[in-house]
Amino acid sequence: MKVIDLRSDTVTRPTPEMRQAMAEAEVGDDVYGEDPTVNRLEAKACELMGKEAALFVPSGSMGNQIAIMAHCARGEEVICDSEAHIFHYEMGAAAVLAGVQLHLVENLHKDEGVLASHFREQIYYLPRTRLVCLENTLNRGGGSVMGLAQMKTVYSLAKENALKVHLDGARIFNAALALRCEVKELAGFADSVMFCLSKGLGAPVGSLLVGNREFIADARRWRKLLGGGMRQAGVLAAAGLVALRNTSRLEGDHDKAKVLAEGLSLLPGLRVDTARVETNMVLAAADESILTKAQLVKKLAEIRVLAGASGRSEVRFVTHSDVSMGDIKEALERIKQVF
Ligand SMILES: Cc1ncc(COP(=O)(O)O)c(C=O)c1O
Repeated sequence: MKVIDLRSDTVTRPTPEMRQAMAEAEVGDDVYGEDPTVNRLEAKACELMGKEAALFVPSGSMGNQIAIMAHCARGEEVICDSEAHIFHYEMGAAAVLAGVQLHLVENLHKDEGVLASHFREQIYYLPRTRLVCLENTLNRGGGSVMGLAQMKTVYSLAKENALKVHLDGARIFNAALALRCEVKELAGFADSVMFCLSKGLGAPVGSLLVGNREFIADARRWRKLLGGGMRQAGVLAAAGLVALRNTSRLEGDHDKAKVLAEGLSLLPGLRVDTARVETNMVLAAADESILTKAQLVKKLAEIRVLAGASGRSEVRFVTHSDVSMGDIKEALERIKQVF
């Protein structure tokens, strides 16, 4: 029986077109700024995001952490949603590497008005708030989208208080498709943006950090400090350039998620709020009197449908280009047997 892997969109494998571009990539030493393919990818990122400069980094986590290090000094404070990736899944790196404190705001993504009440007064014995970090789409929020108006409100409030805004846009292309806007419009409400090539876009490795020239010059130093200076990285950047050629393809992943959510919502032992499915993720809560979350994930694995459960109360299914609509229907048929 074929494995239908819905744990994450990070499981996507590079397409034949990407592999060919990787094999043929023109390369040089990127630490010397001499890799033409990396330079082309960084230029493309600037054009898409409407920013002055860009930096190719090995992972989304490194991109976020470099942004925090470049924006903040030790002992300063970063405001983020209580569900943020930088809080839950980056190994406490903001504390370990940047020496900053994360200040969590519940529901920041849906109630941006609460933000102002979290800004600190400027009294010398209080930590200094320096940065607001947004995430769009919100991973733990089940791929939920923050709207342009909400982002604008956060950005304006931040600017009124002389704060910087960083956007963890690991899945910014999913957000822009759901909002029917350009990624540039979302990026316009942030001083820096990190976005991933290795999630739904399907490239094997890599993320980009964008911002103004001064910020990226600083970020380049932090990347080297973290051991993220790569040499003939053009072989990776080449796949990224292919990934960026057709981002509207992600729309298909959103359609698959809707079909999956509708199907799952009809099953007795599962609770799925179909209205919450805005992009490529579906969260399903197991009726614990029938199956615990861990038992459900195990049962699904037995029928070769892989879903994720780590760190949240619900089971997560993520659609991506390596599962077809046919696979989604097949997965639903198999899951019906479990219930
Ligand atoms: C919202 C978000 N930000 C950042 C990351 C980190 O990306 P990476 O796994 O490349 O470090 C992820 C990864 O899943 C993510 O979902």
